[in-house]
Amino acid sequence: VAVGLNLYLKFPIIKKKLIGPVGFSNLPNQVHRKSIKKGFQFTVMVVGESGLGKSTLVNTLFNTSLYPAKDSKVELTNEIPSTVEIQAIAADIEENGVKLKLTVVDTPGFGDFINNEESWAPILENIEARFDAFLDQENRVNRKRIVDTRVHACLYFIAPTGHALKPLDIEFMKRLAGRVNLIPVVAKSDTLTEEELKLFKSRILDDIAANKINIYQPPTYENDDPETIQENKEIVSRIPFAVVGADRDIDMGNGRKIRGRKYPWGIIEVDNEEHCDFVKLRQMLIRTHMEELKEFTNEVLYESYRTAKLAETGGDIAVHSNPMKKLEADKAAHDAKLAKMESEMKAVFDQKVAEKEAKLKQAEEELYARHREMKEQLELKQRRMSPKPVQTPKKGFFSK
Ligand code: GTP
Repeated sequence: VAVGLNLYLKFPIIKKKLIGPVGFSNLPNQVHRKSIKKGFQFTVMVVGESGLGKSTLVNTLFNTSLYPAKDSKVELTNEIPSTVEIQAIAADIEENGVKLKLTVVDTPGFGDFINNEESWAPILENIEARFDAFLDQENRVNRKRIVDTRVHACLYFIAPTGHALKPLDIEFMKRLAGRVNLIPVVAKSDTLTEEELKLFKSRILDDIAANKINIYQPPTYENDDPETIQENKEIVSRIPFAVVGADRDIDMGNGRKIRGRKYPWGIIEVDNEEHCDFVKLRQMLIRTHMEELKEFTNEVLYESYRTAKLAETGGDIAVHSNPMKKLEADKAAHDAKLAKMESEMKAVFDQKVAEKEAKLKQAEEELYARHREMKEQLELKQRRMSPKPVQTPKKGFFSK
């Protein structure tokens, strides 16, 4: 660091104006071409009680029937799981020549049991297992084809109760906030009135703040243009996103079709920003912040997990990189193994001796008992065999 700093001080960076074009302004286009060739990849997790509209929303978000239709899904899962299961659905989708490898990680069973206290645990385990898999690949000699299966965003579905967050919601978000980009959404928001929704959202935000939960906040940068800053502000103002899902079109007559839900009193349009926050959620998740979510996962969430993990196994790493230390560690391990074997052998020996002693003692007692019994029988026999004493008549018996 010191050498680098010296060099930097010796050769300060000076700003130069180009006399003519050289071509590096084309760098973004090179990156663009390369990334189009490579394609993009995104993993999103959906968590929430059964029936909150998770599959419908994912299908609506990506405008594809990623999830099987409900009837076949019922057939597939007619066995009620006893724990939270993690299932992943992967799909290759394409828009205007840009390919996206999308993985949706579903968590059926979450919040569906009588006791949901530990419902968050298998989900956290799964997220960390994905970090571990990435870490393993990074530590390999050949790091050419690293497959990133880390979860980049987690849509947490809050039931539209209109009250506040449930203890399970708080517990889940608290436990997961440091490991994944949490995006809370109010599920089936069409079931609440405008006032109810406003109040519900503000209570949710209060609960999140009171419990110091770090949900995902789309960042704004200094050099962002005013339009981007304004867009960002609008996205932030909609958190938690009140969503409505609908994977069927409604025919409006006159050849117009819209995605929405039809009620006797009117139609809720999914893509209408005045009806719900679906558009803003989609904008953040797909159009403006997908790369941000991936970057935050890699640079902040994964990095903190990696640091903690390496600190945990830090001793091992230091030992592996120093042959002398490795020798010492091997010797210590060998000594410990010998000591363990010795103590085990001693324990076995002591146990065998104790068993032998107990057996001897028992045999002795049995012998003693037998001896006593024989003695008693002998005495009895002797007593029976000995002549009975002759009774002498009492004085004056025949004197009459
Ligand atoms: P599981 O697969 O059991 O976990 O359910 P899920 O959370 O995936 O719910 P799903 O998408 O299957 O939706 C359950 C029911 O709710 C279906 O009948 C949907 O039509 C309906 N539904 C989905 N989204 C909405 C919504 O935004 N509003 C309303 N009112 N109903 C919805």
